[in-house]
Amino acid sequence: MNVEHAIELIQIKEVKKLSKKKLSTLLTPYELDYCQLHKKRGLEPVAARIAAKKALEKIIPLKDWLEAEVQKDNNGKPTLCLSGKAKTLFKKKKLKRIALSLSHTKEEAIASLICQ
Ligand SMILES: CC(C)(COP(=O)(O)OP(=O)(O)OC[C@H]1O[C@@H](n2cnc3c(N)ncnc32)[C@H](O)[C@@H]1OP(=O)(O)O)[C@@H](O)C(=O)NCCC(=O)NCCS
Repeated sequence: MNVEHAIELIQIKEVKKLSKKKLSTLLTPYELDYCQLHKKRGLEPVAARIAAKKALEKIIPLKDWLEAEVQKDNNGKPTLCLSGKAKTLFKKKKLKRIALSLSHTKEEAIASLICQ
């Protein structure tokens, strides 16, 4: 059984430095809408999504960050959905599933990714 695990920790202060233009190359419109809806938590959800994609980069090379999207189920549980080249590379590594967990505070966001 092929299992990969990666984590990534992001400082919120680093996310504050990113321009809107840069953010639109990192997060999909769906993710940006979600973060806007949850703006009460500031840039925390943004940082968590960046952490998820940086964790994914430890498993497959991710050229286009828009090919990975954090989606939420009805309970709020996050998943990472891949498309395009990212999906192909993931399959090439004989990986099929992704389990994602996110957590964030005012200072930091963390993502843990288990792929199988
Ligand atoms: C889920 C909950 C515990 C998160 O706790 P928190 O301390 O506010 O937040 P954290 O920073 O640790 O984690 C937030 C992340 O948890 C994740 N999350 C939310 N609901 C989740 C769930 N049901 N399962 C797994 N992960 C979940 C999300 O990815 C969220 O980040 P995001 O909104 O940026 O995507 C909180 O929202 C809560 O108490 N909800 C009500 C109870 C509930 O719905 N429980 C779910 C079990 S059915």
